[in-house]
Amino acid sequence: MRGRPGGARLHFGPSRKLPGCAIWRVVDGVLGLVDRQEYRNAMARLGAAVSVITTTGVDGDAGFTASAVCSVTDDPPTLLVCMNRGGSLHDAMKANGVLCVNTLAAAQEHLSPLFAGFVDVPMAEWFDAAAWTTLVTGSPVLADAVVSFDCRIAQVTEVGTHSVLFCEVLAIQAGPAHEGLIYFGRSYHRITVAA
Ligand SMILES: Cc1cc2nc3c(=O)[nH]c(=O)nc-3n(C[C@H](O)[C@H](O)[C@H](O)COP(=O)(O)O)c2cc1C
Repeated sequence: MRGRPGGARLHFGPSRKLPGCAIWRVVDGVLGLVDRQEYRNAMARLGAAVSVITTTGVDGDAGFTASAVCSVTDDPPTLLVCMNRGGSLHDAMKANGVLCVNTLAAAQEHLSPLFAGFVDVPMAEWFDAAAWTTLVTGSPVLADAVVSFDCRIAQVTEVGTHSVLFCEVLAIQAGPAHEGLIYFGRSYHRITVAA
């Protein structure tokens, strides 16, 4: 029987396993948080676009790979980016107050591990791997990205290990690509739309 919130604990009835479904954690009686690894494994099942988030400022151009990007509202046009507070670019990104979300086309898959720091190439050379322009903020805009959102960071909220950057969109560049890139099940997949 499903209970009502009535204090520190919520009470739920027995979990039932449906045919073909995996239940990784069965909590009978007490609602608790799943553990971190279970959560990560479950989130790996959410397909997401892959973007290179760039910025510019006193220390020059910089960027990192992110899949935790989503729309917040169209009035004012706002998206969010979740950024690990332990990442080497975190403080510079916040201080610069500007960023560009460059969503990768299928042919740009190699930029994802590069800007994640997973390839043995110095950061100073990462931008040499592609062509870049600028729009309004001066943050690097990736040529031929599926789409680029040039933004100013309007608000930052810290949640656990991450900062949520709420970004107002100042300019958009839509690219020619018909093949997008999705990160799903811890690997890359191409998706195609009719031309
Ligand atoms: C496909 C993919 C998606 C990622 N998504 C995010 C993300 O949404 N937010 C984030 O902070 N880091 C994300 N990362 C990790 C960062 O790109 C980077 O590896 C991490 O911040 C470590 O950076 P550092 O070596 O500069 O500290 C992602 C990496 C990959 C390969």
